[in-house]
Amino acid sequence: MKPQDAETIMAPAILVTGGAGYVGSHTVMSLLERSESVEFEIVVVDNLTNAYRSDDQKKPEPLRIIEEMTGKKIHFYELDIRDREGLNKIFAAHSIECVIHFAALKAVGESVEKPLEYYQANISGTCTLFEAMRKHGVYKLVYSSSCTVYGEPEKLPLDESHPTGQGLASPYGRSKFFCEEIMKDLCRSDPKWMVISLRYFNPVGAHHSGRIGEDPTGIPNNLMPFISQVAVGRLKELLVFGNDYPTIDGTGVRDYIHVEDLAEGHVKAIKLFKQPGFSGFHAVNLGTGTGYSVLQMVAAFERASGRRVPLRVTGRRAGDVAANYADVSLALRLLGWRATRTLADMCRHTWAWQSAHPQGFRDC
Ligand SMILES: NC(=O)c1ccc[n+]([C@@H]2O[C@H](COP(=O)([O-])OP(=O)(O)OC[C@H]3O[C@@H](n4cnc5c(N)ncnc54)[C@H](O)[C@@H]3O)[C@@H](O)[C@H]2O)c1
Repeated sequence: MKPQDAETIMAPAILVTGGAGYVGSHTVMSLLERSESVEFEIVVVDNLTNAYRSDDQKKPEPLRIIEEMTGKKIHFYELDIRDREGLNKIFAAHSIECVIHFAALKAVGESVEKPLEYYQANISGTCTLFEAMRKHGVYKLVYSSSCTVYGEPEKLPLDESHPTGQGLASPYGRSKFFCEEIMKDLCRSDPKWMVISLRYFNPVGAHHSGRIGEDPTGIPNNLMPFISQVAVGRLKELLVFGNDYPTIDGTGVRDYIHVEDLAEGHVKAIKLFKQPGFSGFHAVNLGTGTGYSVLQMVAAFERASGRRVPLRVTGRRAGDVAANYADVSLALRLLGWRATRTLADMCRHTWAWQSAHPQGFRDC
């Protein structure tokens, strides 16, 4: 639907920007699967730069499937968050209570080549969204941040008091850091703002049904979709960037988190807005607290899928750190959230999705 066609709907709503993407769609699913969020209508805006819609459908494929699975309606608008007028129309048409802001460009390497495009979409777009929120009196925000804001870890595990913004290797990472600084300034300027910035570690996996999952365009930037596309025969071999790091087997170590756990973190975050006295800016890590190396991930995936994943070691990638993993104690204290799914779940669900949809949503 186009914003100008929006009908006025007065039921309380959650606006999800970028809700047709990977983490956004799983969060929409999680919101609709939970009875306590039924009181909210779900309104998604997405410009479809990184989400698939088939020619004969009005809604992007992940949202169409979620509606089919849950029997619940999602209001979808094809809209760029930099479209001020369009946003205003949507805020006027729906009774939006809070915003979960996923919409962003996210390819680290591409951001080095196209910094202006990244700053435009991720920072300018975010400011336009915040202006629309303020204009319509909406001050509750959950933001998709990243462990990238920590840069090279000074110590592990990384907790939220670790300095941010130092030595960041890419415009993408800086855009996440700058947005956090902007949100801190907003909160200082007006106590009505309530902002939870969720610093994701490495989201992987798919919905346990295998019906929605990660569907990157081109060669995947992230490890898990790369592994699964090799396993399914779409790619010939996995490239391992460096095996001379000071880690258990020389390959990079990351804190992988199941996307359904991550999605549930957002549902918990929204509940905090109801807590009396809650206000201001809060950054919270979402990870498992455990790091796995590239080779450990490959072995776990081979076990889960029964497929072999051929690999080739090549040089280190600029900007990659040896290891990072989260201190997740604040998420438990503040949100009452902790990741419950295992590495085997992450691999099994990724494989359920990838093996049923070798070409991603084009196979739905
Ligand atoms: N996936 C990860 O590894 C990871 C890690 C840390 C943080 N994040 C952050 O989480 C968020 C979601 O990531 P994802 O993996 O789901 O990415 P994604 O690309 O799958 O989803 C982002 C969605 O936003 C849409 N979008 C992009 N620019 C837009 C714009 N200007 N206006 C409207 N829609 C726009 C895209 O079409 C896409 O559907 C992003 O902000 C990302 O930076 C992701």
